[in-house]
Amino acid sequence: MRHLFTLSFALLIASCAAPQTSAPAASAPTARMIAPILASEDARDPYSYAQPEVARVTHVSLDLALDFDAHTVAGTATLNIAAEDTAQELILDSKGLDIAWVRDGHGNDLPFAEGAGHADKGAPIGIHIGTARQITIRYRATNAEALQWLTPQQTAGGRHSFLFSQGQPILNRTWIPTQDSPGIRQTWDARITAPSALTVVMSGDRLTPQGEPAGDGRRAFRFRMDKPVAPYLIAIAAGDITFRDLGPRTGVWAESATIDRAAAELVDTERMIDAAEALYGPYRWGRYDMIVLPPSFPYGGMENPTLTFLTPTFIAGDKSLNGLVAHELAHSWSGNLVTNANWSDSWLNEGVTSYFENRIMERLYGTRRAAQEYALNFDAMEEALRENGDGSPISSLHLSGEAADPNGGSSGIIYDKGAVFLKTVESIVGRARFDAWLRSWFDRHAFQPATSAMLLADIREHLVRGDAALEARLMLDAWVYQPGLPANVARPDPAAFAEVDAALAAFQSLSIIETDKYARWSTAERLRYINGLPRELGIHRLEQLDTALGLSAATNNETLFAWLNLALANRYDPAVPVADAFLGRVGRRKFVLPLFRTLMAQGAWGEPIAQAIYARTRP
Ligand code: BES
Ligand code: ZN
Repeated sequence: MRHLFTLSFALLIASCAAPQTSAPAASAPTARMIAPILASEDARDPYSYAQPEVARVTHVSLDLALDFDAHTVAGTATLNIAAEDTAQELILDSKGLDIAWVRDGHGNDLPFAEGAGHADKGAPIGIHIGTARQITIRYRATNAEALQWLTPQQTAGGRHSFLFSQGQPILNRTWIPTQDSPGIRQTWDARITAPSALTVVMSGDRLTPQGEPAGDGRRAFRFRMDKPVAPYLIAIAAGDITFRDLGPRTGVWAESATIDRAAAELVDTERMIDAAEALYGPYRWGRYDMIVLPPSFPYGGMENPTLTFLTPTFIAGDKSLNGLVAHELAHSWSGNLVTNANWSDSWLNEGVTSYFENRIMERLYGTRRAAQEYALNFDAMEEALRENGDGSPISSLHLSGEAADPNGGSSGIIYDKGAVFLKTVESIVGRARFDAWLRSWFDRHAFQPATSAMLLADIREHLVRGDAALEARLMLDAWVYQPGLPANVARPDPAAFAEVDAALAAFQSLSIIETDKYARWSTAERLRYINGLPRELGIHRLEQLDTALGLSAATNNETLFAWLNLALANRYDPAVPVADAFLGRVGRRKFVLPLFRTLMAQGAWGEPIAQAIYARTRP
């Protein structure tokens, strides 16, 4: 940061002389006109320094070069600003951005200063914009937290570097100087240059799929997102990747080593969009492409608009883990179209999406698979509720106080409890009425931020409509604002896993291992079985299970993970090389973190194993 002042930030900005700039266009929208709800206390985002009611960013235009040696992005960001005529100051979020200068549309320098920072939030950048309503920022970001730079060895092809970003929830401020709050929607465009061997993709319309020569052995790629999106949804990836068409508006990017398996696993994507549209209205984003990233991608998936990011670990060869795709697709409505105004209402993104995901799965694969997946998630939720204790504030859908960390309480409860809440409402009002309401919720709030209070008000206005008996049966406030599960909860169908549960009982009482049944079970059934086995098992029983069911040889990453967790918790030595190999090829947090935790909980047996595996697999 070149202009680093020690004065208090507000003081500094207030005392700056207004530079000469042109007046804003008469038709420029004011901050308030654009999103009146941002002014409400309910929608306030404590994880951003922005003051959108004073001046807010409406468009971001990036012109950046990727430097794979220095792990740097550098260039300019030009921001369009909506503000009252009298507004003098714009506040942006920054975490480690190195800003060289800020200028108005005439090239005049604008004074700016970085305020006191915070470990998670980063720091505010205050810019004295005076009358300027478009500004350009020259900056660089080195080793930004949102960006993972991979060496060639960390890719499947092994020959070229790779880059991917993860903006949600509050990481994009480490590489984009803007107001990084989900309620402050922005359109954007970008021109990105990279070494010619690499293809750059972003989460918007890809205007130059082949790239354009940019000199110095580099290519430039241009992108545009003309719908206003939450800034955490601006995403980038670059690597030696190829594209495969899947359907009229769907396709997949991946390294050539992965593209065939990826495309085969994703064949149903176009049908998923059709199903989603039939349920809850038009898909409004044009194309729906996906990129299957190298295995170090820490999430299962990320719903970046027009370009979902996916872990390769969902590839099972039989589409049994493609609920992940239904999930990320569903975010095109819940999350990307109607967006949590701040992270204490993450359930509006993740819980509504988990419900929607299950409905897509039902339409594509039938009620049996959907009921089984609902039951698995319900069990996982109950387990998490037990672990966290009955009254834990992280089990409320709307998170407040300490529990309101931007990663959605990070327990996963909001996903499943959110889905179970909507399932409960559905079962009480009936599917037809429920679906009509949910679709209309998306329509009424399209391209807008939303809060828990808004959703409940909307249900009351359009679904309850003054019916006091219905209001009482729904228990809406308890679901959203209280921990735990209200009494009206829609439980999973106990018949969903009847055969598996009988097999588990046979194992418990008679030590029978149902080899043939296991061989023909679905992935959901196998997961129910492995997770339903007694948590304490002797080495001999583990050996029998492993041999009879081929558990250590599983190619499905979810069943392999479930097995390894059980085996390592019981200090089953033959699982150690399997865990070593698994952790060496997988970076998904959902798998990596629990396995290391399980090992570390095994004292003198597990700790040295964990440390050795970590040392070997960390890269
Ligand atoms: N949007 C999330 C990922 C996320 C959430 C990133 C919060 C950062 C902060 C994504 O849609 C998601 O939920 N992914 C899950 C998929 C699963 C629930 C099907 C994942 O990554 O495991
Ligand atoms: Zn999600």
